[in-house]
Amino acid sequence: MIKTITILGGRGKANAEEEVRRIDLQMGDVVSIVGPTGSGKTTLINDIELFADGDTPTGRRILINGERPPAVYREDPARNPIALITQHTNFLSDLPVCVFLSTHAHIRSMDGSQVDSLVARTLAFANQLTGEPIIPESRMTELSGGQTRALLIADATIVCDTPIVLLDEVENAGIHRTRALELLRRHRKIFIFVTHDPRIALLSDFRIVMQGGGITKVIHTDAAEHKFAATVSSLDDALSRLRETIRLGGRLGKADFKDLVSFTTEGEAAYQ
Ligand SMILES: Nc1ncnc2c1ncn2[C@@H]1O[C@H](COP(=O)(O)OP(=O)(O)OP(=O)(O)O)[C@@H](O)[C@H]1O
Ligand SMILES: [Mg+2]
Repeated sequence: MIKTITILGGRGKANAEEEVRRIDLQMGDVVSIVGPTGSGKTTLINDIELFADGDTPTGRRILINGERPPAVYREDPARNPIALITQHTNFLSDLPVCVFLSTHAHIRSMDGSQVDSLVARTLAFANQLTGEPIIPESRMTELSGGQTRALLIADATIVCDTPIVLLDEVENAGIHRTRALELLRRHRKIFIFVTHDPRIALLSDFRIVMQGGGITKVIHTDAAEHKFAATVSSLDDALSRLRETIRLGGRLGKADFKDLVSFTTEGEAAYQ
């Protein structure tokens, strides 16, 4: 049973020691990794996925339950406790979605009796995150960016059912982020998101801050930020509505402006 993952600090890009020397993640934690482009976020989650043991360019080490992870995690894909959804998802497979999922479910589920229910639950999960539902007969290569992301998140959470899920930049894909976080929190796992999105960062338990290839800080979301998160989410939704109006050839008016201004006062009120 996995209870904790530990990241032991290594070196940043300039070869200087990383400021944060140790981070412990507990089962159930939702964690963000934030930092400018090129600051080493993807590199950090790759270290976790590889169970780095001082053998990657960063020199970091990853412990599971306080110890070096057993070799079987690296050697047997079916026993690997980590699912990674990368920044670039290009499918090589043009199988229909339902065939892809059931093949994967067959590999993962021991006796095969669970396959149909796993596939149905995975599709239902994915479709809660997308605007346009995924049709089980469509080919994997035909899915939109958002549908692909949603399907991979659902697949990692339900079919793989690994205790640790790593997601590199979920926000570009146009999926319902607040709902994704809500749904994911119902599953007791360690979720680590690389994100540029304040909404995801504020809904996390804490955020790991990267700069120049190294971890510089760990910030726990405090009560004020938690409160503020709801305002940020509504503001983000309001901006999405504006985007949608423009996308559909509409014009913005006074009501849209008022809608946006109301969030400034609401945000201020959260800090009173
Ligand atoms: N600790 C490190 N030591 C040496 N090289 C590093 C280190 N961290 C990152 N790098 C290198 O820096 C480059 C950028 O890192 P990375 O791709 O992880 O950034 P990122 O934060 O994910 O950027 P983006 O937001 O654009 O996805 C990569 O070539 C990576 O190999
Ligand atoms: Mg990256």
